[in-house]
Amino acid sequence: MKNLILKQMEVGPMENFIYFIGDKETNDVALIDPAWDINFLLEEAKKNDLNIRAALVTHGHYDHTNGVEGLLKVLDIPVYINKHEADYFKFNWGYENVKKTESGDKLKLGNIEIQFIHTPGHTPGSQCFLVNNNLVSGDTLFINACGRCDLPGGDVEQMFDTIYNKLMKMSDDTIIFPGHNYSDKEHDTLANQKITNPYMQYDNLMAFIGKRMPK
Ligand SMILES: [Fe+2]
Repeated sequence: MKNLILKQMEVGPMENFIYFIGDKETNDVALIDPAWDINFLLEEAKKNDLNIRAALVTHGHYDHTNGVEGLLKVLDIPVYINKHEADYFKFNWGYENVKKTESGDKLKLGNIEIQFIHTPGHTPGSQCFLVNNNLVSGDTLFINACGRCDLPGGDVEQMFDTIYNKLMKMSDDTIIFPGHNYSDKEHDTLANQKITNPYMQYDNLMAFIGKRMPK
């Protein structure tokens, strides 16, 4: 989509992917998973003439959220977090700025529309962001992997449901933009992932649990 800004940046010591997503006409963008180096992210926005209008959080883990507080000190913008994640992690980011999202909610930025999709499993309120056929997937889905389910708040049965009943039912030309640079590809189509992602090869929950959970 030619009007779309989707800028992927690897930031911090844990190979996190942080994104600007927005509208090329207005240069209004959302910052997805503000973490690690807010000065760098603000500089990048400035260099590219982008107006950061909102922050979006894929999930509450430290490596995806440790910049939210610093960002809010500089910019008075809304922070969109799934309601289940907000309830679970109880961040102290300020009542005014936090916007709790539900699956299916949409956010307009200039002429683009971002859809929020609740994808529990890695955490109770993990969410992915869909713009046209681009899916920013956080730690729910990586290229050729998926998020862990054995951390506090993780749920392997929910992850199975998320992958098989939500993500795999999306259009095959969906492009996955993950939350970490854990593969030799920075993004991939869902069609390819259905072939190469080892976590997409199961037709039953028990086999998936056997693969995903520690032995
Ligand atoms: Fe995570």
